[in-house]
Amino acid sequence: MGCASMAKFAAIRGFKDIRPAQAPLWRRLETAARDVARRYDFEELRAPMAERTEVFARGLGEATDIVEKEMYTFTDKGGERLTLRPEATAGMMRAVLEHNLAEGGRPARLFCFGPMFRYERPQKGRLRQFHQLDVEIYGDPGPGADAELLAWLAAFFRELGLGELSISLNSLGCPACRPGFRARLVEFLTTRALCPDCDRRLTLNPLRVMDCKNEACQEQVREAPRTLDHLCPDCYGHFETLKTLLTALGLDFKVEPLLVRGLDYYTRTAFEVLSGALGAQNAVAGGGRYDGLARELGGGDLPAVGFAVGLERLVMLLSDQAAEPGPDCYLAVLHPAALVPAFKLAEDLRGQGLRVAADWEPGSLKSRLKRADKLGAARVFMLGEDEMARGQATVRDLASHEQTSFDLSPYLT
Ligand code: HAM
Repeated sequence: MGCASMAKFAAIRGFKDIRPAQAPLWRRLETAARDVARRYDFEELRAPMAERTEVFARGLGEATDIVEKEMYTFTDKGGERLTLRPEATAGMMRAVLEHNLAEGGRPARLFCFGPMFRYERPQKGRLRQFHQLDVEIYGDPGPGADAELLAWLAAFFRELGLGELSISLNSLGCPACRPGFRARLVEFLTTRALCPDCDRRLTLNPLRVMDCKNEACQEQVREAPRTLDHLCPDCYGHFETLKTLLTALGLDFKVEPLLVRGLDYYTRTAFEVLSGALGAQNAVAGGGRYDGLARELGGGDLPAVGFAVGLERLVMLLSDQAAEPGPDCYLAVLHPAALVPAFKLAEDLRGQGLRVAADWEPGSLKSRLKRADKLGAARVFMLGEDEMARGQATVRDLASHEQTSFDLSPYLT
C-alpha cells in the first residue's frame, strides 16, 4: 500500500504545501529578489507572522474587506486579541517605529518575505495562506522613491526573465484634497442605485465603492468624479514628476483613474502590476504610498511607499520555464561489495561541491540507469562486480553517452 492511500489528513483548505519539485523555483525567486535588493541597497526585515489585531484594524482600515471579513483573528491564552498578518505593511511599519529604524538621517529601505493569511474563497491564484515579497522605503516623501520602487520591480522581473511589466497607476490624493473629492463622490453616488454593501460603504468609506466587484456599482462608478481631477497642487506635482521619472526610466505605465486598491492607508501613488497570463486573479503585485500610516499606528510623521509581489502568482508565471538541472552525479551500486567504496566516493564528490544522488541498495543496471535518467543526472558512476575487480568505476555521461573509467583505489581501503 502506498503512503498516499494511508494519509488521514489533508492540508487546510486554501493552505498549500510547496512540494520539493516546486522548491527550486521558489529558491530562484528568493535568490533573484535578494540580488536585486542588494543592488538597490535594501536590507531584510523579518517581521513576526502575527500582530495585535489593532495594528491591522487601524492600519488597513475598519471598512476594508480584509479587516471586515478576511482576518484570522484569535484570542491567545493570555487574553490578547491577535491576528495572523493578512499583509506585511502594517506590521513592518510597527517594527520600524518600535525600533526607530528610519532615524539617523537616512530613509530606511527594507524588504520582507513570508506567508500572509486571508480568509478568502480559494481559487486559481488565490489562497488563504499565500506568500509575498514586500519592498518598502520609509522617510522619503518625494516621487523619486516611488519611481525607484517601480524600477526595483522591473529589475526583479527582468532578472527572472519575465520581460515587461504592465503597470496601472493612479494618484489618490492626500488629507488636503481627499475630503473635497470624497464630498463630490458622495454627492454623485447618493443619487445612484448601489448594492447594499456599497450603501453602507457610502457613509463609512466612499472610496471603497470604486473597488466594488458588483456589475451595477461598477457601471455607476465609471461616470463618477475621479481623484485625478481633484488633486491639490502638491499631489498633482508629485504625480507629474513620478510619471516623468518612469518615462525617463523607460517604464511603460497606464494611468488608471479608477484604481483605488483594497487597503485604506494609501495616499497619492497607487499602482498594480497585472499579467494577462494569470486569468481572473491577474494582479501579480500592488502597492503605493502610505504617508499617514505611521500616525495611524501612533508614530510621528513618517512618509512611506512600497509594494508587495504575490509569490504564488509569480511561480505560476515562471512554471513553464525550463526545469532545474538534476544532480551532477548518480552512483549506481550494482553489487554489495561496492557499497562501502560508493559511500566513500559520494562523500568525496560532495566534499568537492558536487551534487550527488545514489541508491544504496544494490539493484540491476537497467533499473539504476532508469532512475538516473528520471532524476536528470548529468553522469552515472557504475559500481558492479567487474568494476570492483578492476578497481575502476565506469562513468557514463548521460547526454553524450560517452563512457570513461574512474580510479576507485582511494576508496577501496
Ligand atoms: P495587495 O494588493 O493586497 O497589497 O497584495 C499584493 C499582492 O499579493 C497581490 O497583487 C497578489 O499578487 C498577492 N495576493 C493578495 N492576496 C492573495 C491571495 N489570497 N492569494 C494569493 N496571492 C494574493 C498588499 O498586501 C499591500 N500590503 C502591498 C503594499 C506594500 N503596499 C505598500 N507596501
